Amino acid sequence: MNPALNKLRPYPFERLRALLAGAQPPASLPQIAMHIGEPRHPAPAFVLEALTRNTAGLGSYPATAGMPQLREAIANWLTRRFKLPAGSVSPETMVLPVNGTREALFAFVQAMTDSSRQPLVAMPNPFYQIYEGAALLAGAEPYFLPNDAQHSGLPDLDSVPVEVWRRCQILFLCSPSNPTGAVASLEYLQHALRLAERHDFIIASDECYSEIYFDEARPPAGLLQAAAAAGNTSYERCVVFHSLSKRSSVPGLRSGFVAGDARLLKSFLLYRTYHGSAMPPPAQFASIAAWNDETHVLENRNLYRQKFAAVLPILNEVLSVDMPEASFYLWPRVDNGEHFTRALFEQQHITLLPGSYISRPSADGGNPGSDRVRISLVATVPECIEAATRIRSFIAQRAR
Ligand SMILES: Cc1ncc(COP(=O)(O)O)c(C=O)c1O
Repeated sequence: MNPALNKLRPYPFERLRALLAGAQPPASLPQIAMHIGEPRHPAPAFVLEALTRNTAGLGSYPATAGMPQLREAIANWLTRRFKLPAGSVSPETMVLPVNGTREALFAFVQAMTDSSRQPLVAMPNPFYQIYEGAALLAGAEPYFLPNDAQHSGLPDLDSVPVEVWRRCQILFLCSPSNPTGAVASLEYLQHALRLAERHDFIIASDECYSEIYFDEARPPAGLLQAAAAAGNTSYERCVVFHSLSKRSSVPGLRSGFVAGDARLLKSFLLYRTYHGSAMPPPAQFASIAAWNDETHVLENRNLYRQKFAAVLPILNEVLSVDMPEASFYLWPRVDNGEHFTRALFEQQHITLLPGSYISRPSADGGNPGSDRVRISLVATVPECIEAATRIRSFIAQRAR
């Protein structure tokens, strides 16, 4: 067996199950789940229709590269959304549909890492745990870049020792960030790109929350946009990951894409041909419909806006917690994330995620997640309000 499997840490939700084992929440209170980032708004009807209208496609093997129409819809969306130079994203060579970004983030690291050169994969901390597992199974050392809690909510790239950059083969960025909700500016992304050029590494930019933002006048910037604005219109060293899961509330469709540097995507496609992960044709048709429409995405954002607007005034009575720039997470500081989570579950039947389950100890021994919890506002508006009210009475009671 691959010995690297022994290095994998249990998944956060497994640890949560263990933490809550044996707890007996009041049966009178229905459970409200806020631990998982699984969108629960209804899937758009036209996307479901496109799916069911195209079931005949199940009769043939799909190509790993995806249908040309899907690649084109994606290239057009990227160009519109990030104001890229017309024609700079080739649908043939720079776009690859994937079955959700989770598997693509993992597979990308396997395909790109040269394990013979003591590789290092740098990633934010806290993070999406796939980054770490992908690095370990590719024979690379994960290197954690603490999100700067006081300032940006993103890793401070200038604090990274030059020896680390020299060994770095892939830098993961996650903007908007899960869990801090922070958004990288164009300048931040360009700074990362200059580091990538100087030290010869790839940037894997996880942008799967890019459409869940709140200021319609300022959608989050993306890595391709930053590259193009700096004159890198062939997107060298840049690979972005986008998903329909959050944008269109269809996490079960398993649809996303990888786009960027044609040289890297060529090797990634080769890897995936053997890996065998082609998207089923009905899902490809449904994805075309979803990437071509923005109305449903605006409606989706409006639902999240309503939730933040309703929940924050209730929570702010007892807890210091800010509206994120983007994403559907709150990331408040509490005393101890695990204790808070277990007690809240026992008393109020609400599940949150302790921050330490998505973070690792940093070089100074502290853990940037241990005194935090992640709250996902994925339930319905009334449920989120009910949850906030219960959290408020829980904290008020503890303070007595
Ligand atoms: C930061 C981040 N990246 C990627 C994903 C994976 O999303 P999907 O596989 O549904 O595209 C998630 C899912 O929660 C996430 O939070």
